Amino acid sequence: MDRFATARDLVIARQPDAPTFGLRPHAAGKAARWFLEHFPGDVAYAVKANASPFLLGALYGAGIRHFDVASLPEIEDVASIPDAHLHFMHPVKSRHAIRRAFFEFGVRSFSLDSESELAKILEETGNAGDLTLWVRLAVQSKNSKLPLEKMFGVAPGKAARLVQKTRQVAKKLGLTFHVGSQTVSPEAYVNALDEVGALIVRAGIVLDRVDVGGGFPSAYANSRPEPLSNFIEAIKRAYAALPAGENCRMMCEPGRALVSEAESLIVRVNSRRGNELFINDGAYGALFDAAHLGWIYPVRLLSKTDPAPAAELAPFSFWGPTCDSIDRMPGPFQLPASVSEGDYIEIGNIGAYGRAIAGRFNGFGAYEQGILLDPPMLSVYDVGRDLGHNRGPALPAGMTT
Ligand SMILES: Cc1ncc(COP(=O)(O)O)c(C=O)c1O
Repeated sequence: MDRFATARDLVIARQPDAPTFGLRPHAAGKAARWFLEHFPGDVAYAVKANASPFLLGALYGAGIRHFDVASLPEIEDVASIPDAHLHFMHPVKSRHAIRRAFFEFGVRSFSLDSESELAKILEETGNAGDLTLWVRLAVQSKNSKLPLEKMFGVAPGKAARLVQKTRQVAKKLGLTFHVGSQTVSPEAYVNALDEVGALIVRAGIVLDRVDVGGGFPSAYANSRPEPLSNFIEAIKRAYAALPAGENCRMMCEPGRALVSEAESLIVRVNSRRGNELFINDGAYGALFDAAHLGWIYPVRLLSKTDPAPAAELAPFSFWGPTCDSIDRMPGPFQLPASVSEGDYIEIGNIGAYGRAIAGRFNGFGAYEQGILLDPPMLSVYDVGRDLGHNRGPALPAGMTT
């Protein structure tokens, strides 16, 4: 793939007609190294966030060997990675998927949140005696932009019985939870680990694994997470208080935090009407979260001149390329007031759940891509820069929230 120093250089070289992903594999590598160095346990990458081979390669190169997968296509994406440990963490799987995962791809690690799923896993693996089984608990979200608590997880009242039944058949028994994506402060992890402790006592079981899930935050223009080190310290303290033996091991499953900084999206303005810009990607493409969840990604105009002239910023909303009126990203996105048709814009920190969600509605959704060598637009991994939530993440020159 072609490499460019910056998104601006890519635009000068290509003047792309299609929306273009600018990949920063180096940013994925940096994030992975941070987690591997600081998290006291296994770090599994949640493949659902972005399955680009370039990012998977960067994560692997940095040392990631565990992968959280939720479907057969995701398993196929990572099964051939050398030494990969696959964890099939979707609590509701088809029989076909369990069978192929176990017999064809050698998966031995599965999650569940009901007795019927436990029975299904045992039936489809021929009552295998070498399974790691993770019981997913329903835990409360707190300070999360995307709570997941309603869909999965066994309720506290039913958890002890399910855990005991699972203990009887699992080679290794784990408890797992997800506090919600883009959780900006660590209390939810502490509460969830407290619940894990209470459940161990109530069920009277010996636990082999605790998985604190994903949910670790990234930096966006309108989201100001606490430093990641606060999360690790809080998790370490809460884990140390658990009635779990020395052989119990922790795991985490970040998706967003490992890859969000590793891609930008370069879009072109096809029309301007007042402070509304019609751009060539949108809600049915990589900007789903900006349209439906109010995500505000960092943006910058890729200036035609270098250096960019000092510009007064103004708030803009975006319309996507389809004919559907919900193809709208309200923002506000702060851009130079002079932005006009034909200009290109870099939309940063879109590596998590951007390309992964994009579809082909109305014939759109074909992307170009290129490698970018410069730093991501916002980073939670910049050593020496205070990204504390009181002041928000550091912003590049010329950008405001
Ligand atoms: C089971 C599981 N693990 C991990 C993740 C990754 O979460 P995040 O991207 O918030 O880190 C998800 C996201 O939905 C999930 O469902």
